[in-house]
Amino acid sequence: MNFEYIIVKPTYAEHIALIQLNRPKELNALNLQLMGEVRDALKSLDEDDNVRVIIITGNERAFAAGADIKQMSDKNAIDMLKIDQFSTWDQIKKTKKPIIAAVSGFALGGGCELVMHCDCVVASETAQFGQPEIKIGVMPGAGGTQRLPRAVGKALAMEMVLTGEFISAERALQAGLINKIVPVELLMDESVKMAKSMARNSPIALQMAKEAVLKSFENSLTEGLYLERKNFYMLFATEDQKEGMAAFVEKRKPEFKGR
Ligand code: HXC
Repeated sequence: MNFEYIIVKPTYAEHIALIQLNRPKELNALNLQLMGEVRDALKSLDEDDNVRVIIITGNERAFAAGADIKQMSDKNAIDMLKIDQFSTWDQIKKTKKPIIAAVSGFALGGGCELVMHCDCVVASETAQFGQPEIKIGVMPGAGGTQRLPRAVGKALAMEMVLTGEFISAERALQAGLINKIVPVELLMDESVKMAKSMARNSPIALQMAKEAVLKSFENSLTEGLYLERKNFYMLFATEDQKEGMAAFVEKRKPEFKGR
């Protein structure tokens, strides 16, 4: 997979793929091409049977400082409507495999929204999160006003969206936006550790479970429980369920095959 603005390593670790955002001079500002590349890479990794978990990262200074302001600055509303950049994000949302964001430095605007498209977040001590769009005359557009309050509650979400101020990794952890904070030099090791602890499970169960948790943000409780139950029953059609339960009974490690 050859891209201009991202580096993709489908075999970064066993069953774990890596996507690294790679526009360092612009703090990984998310221009349209970069986001299209992320979408294409995710689609391809989602279809790759060897991949069970995907990590998205940036560099030490920035995960991503938001959508590319220079690319948007002269656009009018009709231009934006025609460009329809959010259809790319809709595709990213459809990724079935678990995604871990490994965040160091700035995760702002669309960068923070990309983090919230991921399922778990490992952050370095230097990570900063923010939705600063208000400072440039707009507002979040890739889900920030919806996912942020669900993650951190109304009070902090309002504060971040209305002031545009950033929060530290520490505050993000307290608020429930991220899973853990690690020293910057351990960011990838710790992210891979979390990814491995997912990847050793049945890949089909991982996807069914991810789908069910995400639906909890959209469905009523009754609909959500219904979907959970269907996915739970469906997993009994897999060889992995037989293997997982047999391995427990036989006191050995399961060997999941994704079937
Ligand atoms: C385009 C950007 C950029 C961005 C940084 N750069 N952020 N270019 N779009 N979002 C560029 C700068 O212009 C500069 O290039 C280089 O990256 C380094 O940035 P500096 O500003 O010189 O660095 P620093 O002084 O350390 O400040 C870091 C920063 C600041 C606080 C992160 O860059 C900043 O405020 N960036 C914008 C953050 C933002 O508003 N994000 C939301 C965007 S709107 P040059 O060539 O000048 O050296 C958005 C909407 C989402 O995300 C909608 C859905 C997609």
